[in-house]
Amino acid sequence: MSEIVVIGGRGNGTVIASTIEDCRRAGSDVEFVGFLNDFEDGPINGYPVLGGIQNGDWRDLPEEYEFIYAISTVKQAPERYELLKDLQIPEDRFATVVHPDATVSEEAELGDGVAVMPRAVVGPDVEVGSHTQLYAQSFVGHDTTLGEMVFVANNASVGGRLSVEDGVHVGSNASLLERLTIEEFAVIGLGAVVVDDVGPYEKVIGNPAEVIGEI
Ligand SMILES: CC(C)(COP(=O)(O)OP(=O)(O)OC[C@H]1O[C@@H](n2cnc3c(N)ncnc32)[C@H](O)[C@@H]1OP(=O)(O)O)[C@@H](O)C(=O)NCCC(=O)NCCS
Repeated sequence: MSEIVVIGGRGNGTVIASTIEDCRRAGSDVEFVGFLNDFEDGPINGYPVLGGIQNGDWRDLPEEYEFIYAISTVKQAPERYELLKDLQIPEDRFATVVHPDATVSEEAELGDGVAVMPRAVVGPDVEVGSHTQLYAQSFVGHDTTLGEMVFVANNASVGGRLSVEDGVHVGSNASLLERLTIEEFAVIGLGAVVVDDVGPYEKVIGNPAEVIGEI
């Protein structure tokens, strides 16, 4: 039995919690036990808030509990990543969840703390770094490498053989041409069609996508 605590709350946290619950309902040996949250004492959607985040309450939870880090905000990935590292939760305490309606190739590798939502598709020889989240109906093509804490929003299409570095946000319905490099903490706007490499921290929008600044 994997008992999972979501670090976060309303928004991404509740989405991941409901993915865990769907796994349980489909027969997986997992249970969602509650949230860690700095702003609410709970309950959130009927589930308890077991403690705070930044005060290190995770250390007081039972040793068998596992975690998923669900705090992500577009354009604030560097701060969210730093918070994750500051918590100093050992990597082996993070759970990886795959929604029963997602399709993940047996040749793909998922890191710790990864969440794959309904109808997401992950192709063969894809490497998904720790704490990366693949939202509903997103697609990651063969031989692509996603770094840590990458956020692939719903319906985004990340073609084959890309390198997507740590902390990148790929917006909803964005499409990325194959073989590109998207450097760390870049933000791909909603609906963008990306046909060139994107530099670190750059924000791109449109079709073809153009740089509009940095986060
Ligand atoms: C790109 C993005 C990060 C905005 O960056 P920003 O610097 O804050 O941009 P602003 O909101 O100030 O908008 C700047 C201009 O770009 C336009 N714009 C913003 N996002 C755009 C997009 N995705 N496509 C086309 N134009 C866009 C705005 O209308 C605005 O135009 P204007 O200058 O003519 O008024 C954001 O719009 C986006 O696409 N986020 C991703 C959302 C997402 O994926 N959500 C799902 C996950 S929960």
